[in-house]
Amino acid sequence: MVAETLDRFGQIDILVNAVGGGAGKALHPAEDYPRSDWDWIMELNVRSTVLATQPVVRAMIERGAGGSILNISSVRANLGINAGYSAYVAAKGAISSLTRQWATEWAKHGIRVNAIMPTFVDTPQVAMLLQDPAFKAGIVNRIPLGRVGETRDLVGPAIFLCSDAASFVTGQVLGIDGGLTATQ
Ligand SMILES: NC(=O)c1ccc[n+]([C@@H]2O[C@H](COP(=O)([O-])OP(=O)(O)OC[C@H]3O[C@@H](n4cnc5c(N)ncnc54)[C@H](O)[C@@H]3O)[C@@H](O)[C@H]2O)c1
Repeated sequence: MVAETLDRFGQIDILVNAVGGGAGKALHPAEDYPRSDWDWIMELNVRSTVLATQPVVRAMIERGAGGSILNISSVRANLGINAGYSAYVAAKGAISSLTRQWATEWAKHGIRVNAIMPTFVDTPQVAMLLQDPAFKAGIVNRIPLGRVGETRDLVGPAIFLCSDAASFVTGQVLGIDGGLTATQ
């Protein structure tokens, strides 16, 4: 993927690591969390991010013109939830930690690394969970702005963090959560 992109465009300026999720399909009590789903969630969220980022950053370092990486964490990196989310919270915690680690390691190359951490965003991936009125009400009641996120809510923050508007911002994990984490 990276080689083809370089062949076609000659350079890579921005990488958004948006592959991930799976939490709603891998809900298990923490004490019985099965290894198969643990490995799947970690692979989908953490390994996918690492495998995409390494060759992109090698190309950015070789080019010597810096770059910007945006990871997608989740408020679940910081907040527990009374549902079977053990692997997902661990995976997103790793994404937030890697964001800070990579920002530190790659700053000398002018490569900025940031993340956004949304709360529930109405995408097909969480549609099943949000169809349960009681579950949805429990989520919405904790969000000061009184609704779940829409994909358009992520656009401005993503563009900001990837662009030169954020030229002195690195290692940050920005909550896109309607104020949820401000209340905790
Ligand atoms: N929707 C939410 O409520 C929410 C909240 C916080 C964080 N997130 C995070 O946002 C990111 C995007 O999730 P989304 O809700 O937009 O879901 P989504 O299902 O729309 O997006 C996930 C993407 O990952 C891709 N993908 C999945 N498995 C893959 C594989 N094996 N190989 C290649 N690509 C694969 C899918 O094709 C899809 O484009 C995820 O990291 C998710 O954890 C979502």
